[in-house]
Amino acid sequence: MEIRRIGIIMNGVTGRMGTNQHLERSITATIEQGGVRVSDDLTLMPDPILTGRSENKLKALAEKYGQRANGRAYKYTTDLQGALDGKYGAYEIFFDASGTLQRANFIEMAVKAGKAIYCEKPTATEAAEAHRLADLVEKAGLKNGVVQDKLWLPSFRKVAMLKELGFFGEILSVRGEFGYWVFTGMDIDQPAQRPSWNYRAEDGGGIMIDMFCHWQYVISNLFGPIKSLVAHGNIDIDERRHEDGTPYKCTADDSAYAMFLLEDGTMCQFNSSWCVRPRRDDLLTVEIHGTKGSAVAGLREVYTQSVANTPKPVWNPDIPQPINFYDGWELVPNNISYDNAFKIQWEMFLRHVALDEPFRYSLREGAKGVELAELGMISWKERRWVDVG
Ligand SMILES: NC(=O)c1ccc[n+]([C@@H]2O[C@H](COP(=O)([O-])OP(=O)(O)OC[C@H]3O[C@@H](n4cnc5c(N)ncnc54)[C@H](O)[C@@H]3O)[C@@H](O)[C@H]2O)c1
Repeated sequence: MEIRRIGIIMNGVTGRMGTNQHLERSITATIEQGGVRVSDDLTLMPDPILTGRSENKLKALAEKYGQRANGRAYKYTTDLQGALDGKYGAYEIFFDASGTLQRANFIEMAVKAGKAIYCEKPTATEAAEAHRLADLVEKAGLKNGVVQDKLWLPSFRKVAMLKELGFFGEILSVRGEFGYWVFTGMDIDQPAQRPSWNYRAEDGGGIMIDMFCHWQYVISNLFGPIKSLVAHGNIDIDERRHEDGTPYKCTADDSAYAMFLLEDGTMCQFNSSWCVRPRRDDLLTVEIHGTKGSAVAGLREVYTQSVANTPKPVWNPDIPQPINFYDGWELVPNNISYDNAFKIQWEMFLRHVALDEPFRYSLREGAKGVELAELGMISWKERRWVDVG
């Protein structure tokens, strides 16, 4: 059995996504499970070096996760250029989970070093910049990819299965409700659970740029290409408290409402908000309604109702509702075990780099998400429908 090492420079992994989803639940989990076994003869084994600005934070992460994975600390350095130059060993992949506004500079450095490039979304806050970065990696002939994790959520995999089985009949509409209450930091003993830059446009924040990137690949992969959109955004809460406790002015939208009309006429309506208190199954729920059946997907579970067991309500507000609408739904069973969505995509990218397997979640695809967000902003500001693509 050959164990092929794949060196990965992991940049900006001291952040929320970098630490939890990429370092811990993807790369460390992959090493812990013995690598990616691609055949009886070959296993791919990731070998990360952590890069960033804070030596202390990097050291702590390298110790904690390296010990867990290998029984010894991962390598780390604040010298990213040195890592790209091969000063600390051979690393063929550059991965970036730093802030959105930092991404372009890091991608440019990695392109110059000829690395395969994988990074978080969005790749930029403007479509022209996102396409410029895609041009750069393509012209340099480098393998590249963008995180599109939601595609591998257990719930969306089940929705794809239901669709393939013909469960829905003709899909008529899709309704997504995303959001939860993000504490402002202004209330006593209630710290915010998201980074403060998310609420400042000048730092790359805003829910439209954050979530429309996701809606673009979720909708186009599951339901079809988007033809046009109309969107509205708002800054619901205009003052929050910074991580260090000081108040700051919110300059980015924290709520966004959008209707995406697909080329085949299907309407996909998505609400996104960090200023709502959920009374629904999950932080994201997507209803899919078709002629033969409907489904409601959370992050993991999916409930279905076929035309045969659809109740027949009669409008009468003068009596208590006689139907418990929750009773008429069936849970799709978990007949397989579902791995972490980020880890699944990482495995595909590692196989793409090592074995030339296809990988279509490229920087170019990621740029389409940035484009959708930009069109959403245009629709909001100009109060009109906008064509996509
Ligand atoms: N795929 C998803 O579902 C998803 C979810 C949330 C965030 N994101 C994206 O992931 C990225 C990170 O978001 P986050 O929520 O983890 O934010 P965060 O603020 O927690 O993390 C950002 C990290 O980048 C580091 N950083 C900033 N400037 C740097 C620099 N010059 N050099 C090196 N490191 C630098 C910060 O120290 C921090 O560790 C963003 O682009 C965001 O849009 C993706």
